[in-house]
Amino acid sequence: MKVGGRHFRTIWLKPDNECVVQLIDQRFLPHRFVIEEVRTVEQMATAIREMHVRGAGLIGASAGYGMYVAALEAASRPAAAGFDEHMTCAAAQLKATRPTAVNLSWAIERQLKSIADGKIAEKKVALALRTARLIAKEDEEHCRMIGQHGLKLVEQIARKKIGKPVNVLTHCNAGWLAFVDYGSATAPIYAAHDSGLPVHVWVAETRPRNQGSKLTAWELGQHGVPHTVIADSAAGHLMQHGEVDLVIVGTDRTTYTGDVANKIGTYLKALAAKANDVPFYVALPSTSFDWKMRDGLKEIPIEERGAKEIKHADGWFDGRQVEVRIAPEESLAANYGFDVTPRHLVTGLITERGVCEANEKSIFSVFPEHAP
Ligand code: MRU
Repeated sequence: MKVGGRHFRTIWLKPDNECVVQLIDQRFLPHRFVIEEVRTVEQMATAIREMHVRGAGLIGASAGYGMYVAALEAASRPAAAGFDEHMTCAAAQLKATRPTAVNLSWAIERQLKSIADGKIAEKKVALALRTARLIAKEDEEHCRMIGQHGLKLVEQIARKKIGKPVNVLTHCNAGWLAFVDYGSATAPIYAAHDSGLPVHVWVAETRPRNQGSKLTAWELGQHGVPHTVIADSAAGHLMQHGEVDLVIVGTDRTTYTGDVANKIGTYLKALAAKANDVPFYVALPSTSFDWKMRDGLKEIPIEERGAKEIKHADGWFDGRQVEVRIAPEESLAANYGFDVTPRHLVTGLITERGVCEANEKSIFSVFPEHAP
């Protein structure tokens, strides 16, 4: 998508030195547009853990590139040091960065499998590079297709609204910043906007890290999509007053039965949507399905982050990024990063192969190769 009129992806190889990965460092958005250069697996692990990059698809693509830089490291070590041992350590290091997005382990496993086909270090590096590029390319294409399938849903609603904007509510950032391009939840929005349909987006700010007000609002603005930032707690009120036609959110992991893990606060929005008869869709590429997990509530690991994110807030003041404390210093704070929305609250799943219901039968009918 576009930044200042120029096309960007979230992650790419440095054009004049393919041993370096470049990525948009999201910690500084929307105030500054910073590009970080990553040369080591240690740096990539830090970028994922500290959320320079974030969002399920981008975490997967970053892990793919992280394994590629690990392969470069392994190839530059003395032969006796063991290529495969280095890759096993790199895989463990990257996997330990964040627990909830299934794309992380999926990308790492895919890299390990592909590298195993190489007999010599040079070949292994070439395979790692090819796979990293493929993971990123597929992510982009899946999101583009999600946009095409989701567009039909927006068009259906637009027909009833006769010229008035379709109001979509979203939570967190499942936009192009959370993937390589297009986004999952935002892909139908961009597709609708680009095709001339009037759309307006309610952007839930998404405390504590404000991915909504910082990232989703910024990227929609860069693309010229009309939007309004709201407090997380305003969503129910808007739905009660008929101001929301459709909710579309992303997911970090969805079970093959249709339970959806997404940024904390998603579940409350799904409850409000159900109570007010507002369709609640989840947009996801197939890489965000966990094909082994049945019960989302019991099985999906929920990341818990530091108390500081809850007790403090940061923003832009007087030309610099500042952090302030909001809560009493001595108060305890619990910071659950994600929640699970049970399948019965989900109207449908928008995937790269089409829209299906949030249940085992419907999901496997779209992805039969994963059926038991
Ligand atoms: O903690 P984050 O920012 O990595 O959280 C992930 C998310 O961005 C959201 O949960 C998003 O809605 C789904 S990821 C496409």
